[in-house]
Amino acid sequence: MLTKRLKDDNWALHQIAERQETPGSLIKGQMPREGYVGMIAQQVLINRVLDDAMRGAIKSDPRVGELVLEEQMLSPYLIEDAAYFGLDLDAIEPNPGTARFIEHIGAHKDQPLHLLGLHYVRLGACNGNRFVARVVRKAYELGEEGTRYLDPFGETQRDKWMEFKNALDAMPFDEAEQDQVFDGTRAAYVAAINLDLDEAMSAEALLEQHGKTLDKKAFEEGHSVHVPSPHG
Ligand code: HEM
Repeated sequence: MLTKRLKDDNWALHQIAERQETPGSLIKGQMPREGYVGMIAQQVLINRVLDDAMRGAIKSDPRVGELVLEEQMLSPYLIEDAAYFGLDLDAIEPNPGTARFIEHIGAHKDQPLHLLGLHYVRLGACNGNRFVARVVRKAYELGEEGTRYLDPFGETQRDKWMEFKNALDAMPFDEAEQDQVFDGTRAAYVAAINLDLDEAMSAEALLEQHGKTLDKKAFEEGHSVHVPSPHG
């Protein structure tokens, strides 16, 4: 099944992504408020470009059109958050990692299934970001306003994610097409990890660097240990 592969063969990159400066300090509640607002600003730039690219993919491949819903476009939530913090969208400068991510999207704008892989990761990240949202709300005394991007679907997160995954598994993609989606997911993890790095690292270099410390079992257990329950 495609989504099983997307999850099982990317766990190491997911673990590396979780460890990076921005997600790592956000989940621990150690990120200063201006760092959080800066993250929102950078994500506005990335997600605006990815939303546009997804609209192109929806037109060029009807299967992508069936899978990707308007409510999954993430820039509107980010723009709401940015407005809450009084950000001037025209004044945001991309940092090097953002510029690389945007360049990557542009270079694949005619590959709807690669784009679908990029989209899968930003949508899947909402599962973890829902937990991050809880910490962020407490740390900066926010409600839903200012944290829409982290938690766009609220209580329906889990059901909507399962629906998306089931629809993806039911979609007739041949093996080569599934590979394209998979490549997109890997590229998205790598681009996200590199958001915090001035000099980009490849997937191979990242896996080599973290290799000895990666642990699938600890990783799976770690989710339940360091992530508080959204209801608790
Ligand atoms: C503090 C950081 C993070 C935490 C605590 C976290 C936690 C989680 C959790 C609990 C899940 C649900 C796992 C499951 O359904 O079994 C998940 C899924 C996922 N996360 Fe994260 N995550 C974090 C950061 C990230 C980042 C930075 C990315 C990507 C850029 C990301 C991408 C994903 C994806 C794509 C999924 C869906 C996996 C799949 O089923 O294929 N996460 N995360």
